[in-house]
Amino acid sequence: MDLPLVGRAGYGAFVDAKTDELRAAHDVLAEFYADHLAGALDRMPAERAVLGLFCDLTLAAGLGTGVGDVGCGTGRLAPYLAARGLCPRGIDLSPEMIRVARRDHPGFDFDVADLRELPFGDASLAGLVCWYSLMYLAPSDRPAVFGELARVLKPGGYLVTAFKAGDSRVRRGGRSTGLGVEFDVYWLSPAEMERRVTDAGFAAVFWGGGPAEGQEGSRQGYLLAQRS
Ligand SMILES: C[S@@+](CC[C@H](N)C(=O)[O-])C[C@H]1O[C@@H](n2cnc3c(N)ncnc32)[C@H](O)[C@@H]1O
Repeated sequence: MDLPLVGRAGYGAFVDAKTDELRAAHDVLAEFYADHLAGALDRMPAERAVLGLFCDLTLAAGLGTGVGDVGCGTGRLAPYLAARGLCPRGIDLSPEMIRVARRDHPGFDFDVADLRELPFGDASLAGLVCWYSLMYLAPSDRPAVFGELARVLKPGGYLVTAFKAGDSRVRRGGRSTGLGVEFDVYWLSPAEMERRVTDAGFAAVFWGGGPAEGQEGSRQGYLLAQRS
């Protein structure tokens, strides 16, 4: 399906082979994720707790309920965020992910967009969720992306991110799915993540971690930060 990309500079802002590879791979992965991640949050109390803390802090900040679900994939987090009182709007690079998100969660807004150029106004959101979606950024893109996340958040708003924790070196992901897809992925160093958010004008308020899970055996990392 041909869905328009929503972005300030249009679809061509990030045309390169790595972006094409990542988008195409996630188009292939969309139904796989819909099958494999359905109900996953119900089985993951630590993930619910971190997201729940984000929801509570965001609501307590009194900046409204609008939050971006950045790299939303199949949209699986939207019902949880809404049940906790927030109004999520999802964006994802992959048109297939967005098609599946709209199909499976019809009550929510989802658009195709690149997180390097968010389709949200300056200081327009109370919160941002980047759940395993910042792990594909080349190091050279990271300073600008954290600046972009800061741009769209209201001062006092919250960012929460989950990531696979590691040494920040590039590796090839996707192979374990057996679907013939590959793309660059970085298991991010928690120290680097804290430095990135701090440099972009956030203050870290919560760190979390968990043991390796699943076939790829990566540890989990969580970071919650408040926009200054
Ligand atoms: C591992 S999935 C996680 C999806 C969802 N957050 C979840 O927890 O189910 C990573 C998602 O990030 C999206 N993504 C990766 N790079 C992106 C970018 N530059 N802009 C927008 N989405 C991106 C991918 O298309 C994919 O859907």
